[in-house]
Amino acid sequence: MTSPSEGSREIRILLVEDDADDACLVQKYLEQSQTDDQRYVLVRVDRLQTGLDSLKTGRFHLVLLDLSLPDSQGLETFIKVRETAPNVAVVICSGLQDRQVSIEAIAKGAQDYVIKGQFDRMMFERVVRYALERRRVQEIQEEFVGKVIHDLGYPLVVSLEAISLILDGFYGDVNKGQRELLTMAQKAMHRLNRMIHGLLDISKIELGKIELVRKKINMADLAREVCANFQPLAAKKGLELKATFPEAPVTACVDEDRMTQVWTNLVSNAVKYTERGWIEVSIHDRGSDVECGVADSGCGVSAEDLKKLFTEFGRVGESSSRRKIEGTGLGLAITKGIVMAHQGKIWAESKLNEGTKITFVLPKE
Ligand SMILES: Nc1ncnc2c1ncn2[C@@H]1O[C@H](COP(=O)(O)OP(=O)(O)OP(=O)(O)O)[C@@H](O)[C@H]1O
Ligand SMILES: [Mg+2]
Repeated sequence: MTSPSEGSREIRILLVEDDADDACLVQKYLEQSQTDDQRYVLVRVDRLQTGLDSLKTGRFHLVLLDLSLPDSQGLETFIKVRETAPNVAVVICSGLQDRQVSIEAIAKGAQDYVIKGQFDRMMFERVVRYALERRRVQEIQEEFVGKVIHDLGYPLVVSLEAISLILDGFYGDVNKGQRELLTMAQKAMHRLNRMIHGLLDISKIELGKIELVRKKINMADLAREVCANFQPLAAKKGLELKATFPEAPVTACVDEDRMTQVWTNLVSNAVKYTERGWIEVSIHDRGSDVECGVADSGCGVSAEDLKKLFTEFGRVGESSSRRKIEGTGLGLAITKGIVMAHQGKIWAESKLNEGTKITFVLPKE
C-alpha cells in the first residue's frame, strides 16, 4: 500500500507490540493526535507472525514496530516486516537496549524510531506524520527513477538498430574511418544499455518489486549451461574452468532467468578478473539448503575493498590494472539482490593477488 490517498485522510496503522501498557500509550497518543482532516485507525497485534499475516492481507500506511517480540528479536524483526511490506512506512518503537539496532534499521530503510519512555504526545505525532511523508517522497523518487531508466532504453535500442543497419551496408558502402567511429559508438551504446538494464534491476530490487517465477530446478543444470557459455573465453585466456557438482540433482525452487543471471555475473567476474590459473564452480547439497560457489585464482581484492564489493557501483581497485577491465559495477549488487529475494545469503572471501570465492546459499523450498 502506498501513501494515504488525497480524499481519504484515514491513516491505517499496524501496531506490533507485545507490552499492553506500551500499546495503550500509543493508542492514547494517536487518539489525541487525530484532527478533523486526519483520522487514525489502529490495529494491534502482539507477535511478529500475526503482524506479517496482517500486512499480507490488510492495507496499512504505517507500522509501529517493537523489535523485541515473543517470536522475533532485533534487526531480524524489521527485516521481515520490510520484506513483507516494502512500501509501508515503518517506525521502530524500541526499548533503550535496542537503540543501536533501531539506528541500523534506519540504514536499512525504516523511516524513524522512538525510544519507549522517552517520547511525549507531540513528539509521537511529529514522528508519525514525518514517517508517512518521508515514505511518500521516497516512493515518488523511486517511481521517477524507475520511469526515467525505463524510458532511456527505447531510444537506445532504436539507435543501436540504426547503427547495425549502416554497418551491415544496407545504406551503401562504409569506409574504414566511418566503420571505426560507428563501432566505437555501438560499443559505448551497448555499455549504456547494460547500465540501464542494471539500474532497472537495482531499482526493482530496492522497491522490493523483483518478480520471481519460481519452479524446481536442478542448480547444476543452470551452472553447467553458464560454464559452457564462458568456456571459449576462459580457454582463450588459458584458464582452467572446473566444475564440482554432486552426482544426484540438487533442486531448488528458483526463478530460472534470475538464477542464470546470478551464475553469469559470478562466472563472468571470475573470468574477467583472473589472468592465470583456474576457476572453480561448485555446488553442494546442504540438507534443506543448496550451497553454490564460484572461486578463482585471480587478482583478488583487499580486505578494505571486500566490504564494498556488493554495493552499487562498487568497482574496487580502480587504481590498479583492472581499471582497463570493462564493467558497470552493478553486477554483484544485482546478484546479491536476487539471492536475497530468494531468501538466500551471499558472501565473499578474497585475498589480493591470490583469488576470490563468492558463495551463495539458497533454501531448497
Ligand atoms: N572474482 C573477482 N576477482 C576480483 N575482483 C572482483 C571479482 N568479482 C568482482 N570483483 C571486483 O568487484 C567489483 C564489483 O563487481 P561487479 O560484478 O559488481 O561489477 P563489474 O564487474 O565491475 O561490472 P558489471 O556490472 O559489468 O558486472 C569489480 O569491479 C571488481 O573490482
Ligand atoms: Mg561483474
